[in-house]
Amino acid sequence: MSHQKIGIVGSGLIGRAWAMLFTSAGYRVQLYDILDIQIETALQELNKELHQLEQKGSLRGQLKAKEQFELISVTSKLEELVQNAVHIQECIPEKLELKQELYGKLDEILECGTIVASSTSTFMPSLYSKDLSKKQQMLVAHPLNPPYFIPLVEIVPAPWTSAEAVERTYDLMVSIGQRPVKLKREIQGFATNRIQYAILNEVWRLVGSGIMTVNDVDTVLSQGLGLRYALLGSLETAHLNAPGGVKDYFQRFGGEISAVSATYGPTPNTLKEEETLDDIAQQCEKIVPLDKLSARRATRDAFLTELAKLKKQFE
Ligand code: NAI
Repeated sequence: MSHQKIGIVGSGLIGRAWAMLFTSAGYRVQLYDILDIQIETALQELNKELHQLEQKGSLRGQLKAKEQFELISVTSKLEELVQNAVHIQECIPEKLELKQELYGKLDEILECGTIVASSTSTFMPSLYSKDLSKKQQMLVAHPLNPPYFIPLVEIVPAPWTSAEAVERTYDLMVSIGQRPVKLKREIQGFATNRIQYAILNEVWRLVGSGIMTVNDVDTVLSQGLGLRYALLGSLETAHLNAPGGVKDYFQRFGGEISAVSATYGPTPNTLKEEETLDDIAQQCEKIVPLDKLSARRATRDAFLTELAKLKKQFE
């Protein structure tokens, strides 16, 4: 169990989730935020959440909730945060100017052995690290919400990120029980959103062209493809779906895949197709009214925990 220090910048939803993940493996975590009130709230929330997880039997790691909470400290000084930190996880809002400003400050005070990983969902690391002197220590480590229950972390280097920074971040993520993947080079949307958007585009087309309802198109994933993909990726699924494995699969179905793909048409412009958006929103709000969203999220998270346990057995 490690007692090394991890710094977290931004104590919102994702900063708090990382704090719990790191303390579950025994790391000392220090939280920093520009708003004192946010840090106070974060501490209260973390204490509450860790104990709730313990009561439900879902607390990660070997330490008790109280012991994990005792590993967390706070600071309102960025200089203090970076001191002796092996890794800093940046979790500030998704605004490029904010990130650039913060990384500029970090660049001046960062120790040479500290890696800074951004939780950003959308910004390639070159966008905020390009002009900095310690840019080889900076990369993206993108989690999926809720990170406590979804183990995937996408590690994305800028062209100048050192191989050592990538490997150390990878090993760190493994050490807290997450499942990191490495991209060899940065690309817009990383991997998760590139794949997610391909699905969203097709789902949008099927509803927008009146072929399916929201309920039915979501059923295709939740009661069909998604069940397979909860266990296996799409390539291993293909590998299992032909007698001779993946080569046989693409030899048999490659022609059909190309023929169907040729009918997709242009990528929908979801910003401009207001009629489709209104229709989708109306149908979604019938399924889950806006005032029931947080209850539905909580149910989803509860079942995700169970699914995660089952998946561990599968693996
Ligand atoms: P949030 O809004 O819940 O929290 C952001 C926190 O950063 C707030 O406490 C705010 O006071 C603080 N902050 C703002 N400027 C700061 C600064 N200059 N220095 C220090 N602290 C500052 O945001 P959330 O949802 O936690 O997102 C954080 C990052 O995680 C974003 O980059 C987002 O794209 C990424 N992310 C979010 C996911 C989500 O589902 N919410 C999923 C995966 C990644």
